[in-house]
Amino acid sequence: MQDLEQPVMNLTTSDKQTLIKNWAEGYKSQLNEYNYEIENIEGEIPHELEGTIFRNGPGKFEVNGQKFGHIFDGDGMICRIAFSQGKAYFQNSYVRTEGYLAEKKAGKILYRGFGTQKPGGFLANIFDIKFKNAANTNVLHWGDKLLAMWEGGKPHQLNPQTLETIGLDDLNGLLDPNKSFSAHPKIIDDVLVNFGVQGITNQQLVIWELDKNGNKLKEKSFPMEGFAFLHDMLITPNYYIFIQHPFKIGALPFLFGFQSIEQCFGFDKNKPAKIIVISRHEDNQMNIIEGDSFFGFHHGNAWEKDDHIYFQSCCSDVYPQMTQENSDMSKIAYDKFPTSNLYQFKVSLTSPKVTREKLDNRGCEFPCVHPNWVGKENRYIYMNVTDNNNGGGPLQNIIKLDLTGEATQVWNPSPTAFAGEPIFVPHPEKNGEDDGWLVSLVYDSSTNKSYLAILSAQDINQVVAKLHLSHHIPHGFHGTWTSKAFI
Ligand SMILES: [Fe+2]
Repeated sequence: MQDLEQPVMNLTTSDKQTLIKNWAEGYKSQLNEYNYEIENIEGEIPHELEGTIFRNGPGKFEVNGQKFGHIFDGDGMICRIAFSQGKAYFQNSYVRTEGYLAEKKAGKILYRGFGTQKPGGFLANIFDIKFKNAANTNVLHWGDKLLAMWEGGKPHQLNPQTLETIGLDDLNGLLDPNKSFSAHPKIIDDVLVNFGVQGITNQQLVIWELDKNGNKLKEKSFPMEGFAFLHDMLITPNYYIFIQHPFKIGALPFLFGFQSIEQCFGFDKNKPAKIIVISRHEDNQMNIIEGDSFFGFHHGNAWEKDDHIYFQSCCSDVYPQMTQENSDMSKIAYDKFPTSNLYQFKVSLTSPKVTREKLDNRGCEFPCVHPNWVGKENRYIYMNVTDNNNGGGPLQNIIKLDLTGEATQVWNPSPTAFAGEPIFVPHPEKNGEDDGWLVSLVYDSSTNKSYLAILSAQDINQVVAKLHLSHHIPHGFHGTWTSKAFI
């Protein structure tokens, strides 16, 4: 395990303010759509790197000067970087959702969102329970479909060649009109596993498995007890794992138009989080094990060993609640804002027992492992971390955390730059756990531009190439790699 006592970077208040201000610059909208070959390249793109990175995230955060109440409500914009024969090609395009098109035409906010109220007070919002599907959270290329994903609704299908929006997709009839499909699928042994939480009250958890052509292999459904806000999941060869954090919801202020749904979330730090372990192969076999109280958006990897399940998760003490009033990212008080740290969990399969151990003191999000290690015991885990090891701050660096404690590495792009989610691209001809590259879109506030960093996964301080874009891309969420080059 890691030595958690590492040097603490002591920043002055003024340094911290500058850091947060620089980071918040990355939440400026990018209204333009581009399509060009990237010519400003430092280093060299490896010739083995043939394929495409797709990445999703909010591209704009307002309509005609009216700001959305939460970054989670920004309109989804897909970035595509295709690699072929040592060259790279960039394209970005907004997902033409019903809400994006209608708000663009109207020139004002027309929809409520996760943390957004329509302007005009409660009378403008009362009894309006339709959210805008922002299509902004993840993007997946599966079964020859490119899907922009958002956890509260159906995915939008796009043409991977042109990034044109085709429309809402029900996955060959899998999703009936009211079903939502989470933005955090897992892929294990060429099977796509995903879930959806249906409804706000009397919720149902639905889990699907799809083959590589997108055909349904399995569907399971379970009623949820209490309010479940499930963003991510974990998978092993035999189990689905979910964490139900101790939320409660009082939805009346939302219904009557006074508050966004996110403002109605209550977090009870005196109640346990529930680890939900569901058999992939047996019907109706679900075990719920109560652990500490904590919150976490993102989980790492899970595996089974000696009658236990092990997994990693980014955990904070409480839910990091935003409100429409404090949604200005440059004013976040990180000293008080809940910060996630990576923990490793050990869950007994024979008794109701779970323990957890902190692996690193840096604030973290967006963990990933080599795709072939999903569901298997991993030595390395890669993620974004803060540039200090004492908690709060913007995500800036990329860490390769070695769970043996021997060879942890941290890459800092620069004091003014902020790395996005690292996406692991496996080396096509090598099979080691760190054979491949980490690819990350980096926003640099000193130039107000972004670049794609290609790091060697063996030595993440070996920057293989920086592909400089001619503009900025706002901080985003999740992306994916496919070995098909879409140019
Ligand atoms: Fe996420």
